Amino acid sequence: MRILFVGDIVGGPGRRAFVRIAGRMKRGGEVDLVVANAENAAGGKGLSRAIAEELFDAGADVLTLGDHAWDQKDIIPYLAVERRVLRPANLPPGCPGAGLLSLDTPAGRVTVINLIGRVFMGPNDCPFRAADALLAKEPAMGKAIVVDFHAEATSEKIALGRYLDGRVSAVVGTHTHVQTADETILPKQTAYLTDLGMTGPKDSVIGRDAATIIQRFLTGMPSKFEIAEKDVRLEGAIVDLDAKTGRAQRIVRVRESVE
Ligand SMILES: [Fe+2]
Ligand SMILES: [Fe+2]
Repeated sequence: MRILFVGDIVGGPGRRAFVRIAGRMKRGGEVDLVVANAENAAGGKGLSRAIAEELFDAGADVLTLGDHAWDQKDIIPYLAVERRVLRPANLPPGCPGAGLLSLDTPAGRVTVINLIGRVFMGPNDCPFRAADALLAKEPAMGKAIVVDFHAEATSEKIALGRYLDGRVSAVVGTHTHVQTADETILPKQTAYLTDLGMTGPKDSVIGRDAATIIQRFLTGMPSKFEIAEKDVRLEGAIVDLDAKTGRAQRIVRVRESVE
């Protein structure tokens, strides 16, 4: 089974890169499954129903979220009817939606889990214990289990990767919008990458217009952050795994420009 993981899709430029590049890979049969983080797909702030449908039409199989999950109001009713959009599983109990989805594909059954970190982030429940609780259901989930860990701190991400090594097929990070170069197969055959990077305009400060962000740092004054436009890329990773054993075989970083 070959899975394309796509780093945070930012605004219209990110969506265009997704449609063009991930869409081509999916249509061409280069990948069996596309899992994309869409927490910034709606103008940088969350995900709306219309935009989720655009991404599904382009080839996304599962969309994950993060700390921007609730930025668009219509995501709440949408989560009640669309199982393919995941919010982090370790948000406090009572939040709408779910953080885990098992689906049957021509390449086999696969389970996608979305988790969020706690270091330099909101008051979320423990992602380590949340993963333990979810994995206790494993028989129904099949062997191919992949995790999008949406977190800020590299230490927390690496620790969760090591914690889940041998228990899931892949742990890939999202949220920082900066791709890391540490892709590896951990000792017990779990594919790992600290951050997939960003699908959006690279000529920016993590997707926003650089001049505006610099001004914000200089003055501390609130300002409207505009999505940047230039040097648009898709970033992520492709993971090959054996769906019968759940073992990862290979992880390769992806960085492709739309130009
Ligand atoms: Fe985030
Ligand atoms: Fe993000």
